[in-house]
Amino acid sequence: MYKVEAIIKPTKLHEVKDSLEEAGFASLTVTEVKGRGQQKGMMQQWRGRKYCVDLLPKTKIELVLAEEKLDEVVELIRKTATTGEIGDGKIFIYPVQSVIRIRTGEVDEDAL
Ligand SMILES: Nc1ncnc2c1ncn2[C@@H]1O[C@H](COP(=O)(O)OP(=O)(O)OP(=O)(O)O)[C@@H](O)[C@H]1O
Ligand SMILES: [Mg+2]
Repeated sequence: MYKVEAIIKPTKLHEVKDSLEEAGFASLTVTEVKGRGQQKGMMQQWRGRKYCVDLLPKTKIELVLAEEKLDEVVELIRKTATTGEIGDGKIFIYPVQSVIRIRTGEVDEDAL
């Protein structure tokens, strides 16, 4: 099992969430986060003054899946979250040792 952690533009959340659901991946965790990439934030103008915004709002989506679903989900998120602009985000993939469904005690892929 793997955890896919995608940091995306907040404006892309609904599209990514809907396409995951359509493809059969309903369970996920979403967190509003702040971050920066290689441009180290950006300059923004507000009321005629320039501000350096160090950390930009991003949305983190996490989902844990069986290995055979990994490529499909990563490609789906990548396609859906793309605008072609800087700051489109990143996808991190981690191995998951085990999963337990609290209600039933089921483990691993039965618990996903
Ligand atoms: N190496 C990293 N480690 C942890 N978080 C990261 C890393 N790179 C990016 N992030 C997270 O992803 C968000 C989006 O990153 P971003 O897409 O700007 O990456 P980038 O490398 O600058 O690529 P691009 O040039 O396309 O903007 C960041 O705001 C941060 O939250
Ligand atoms: Mg960037």
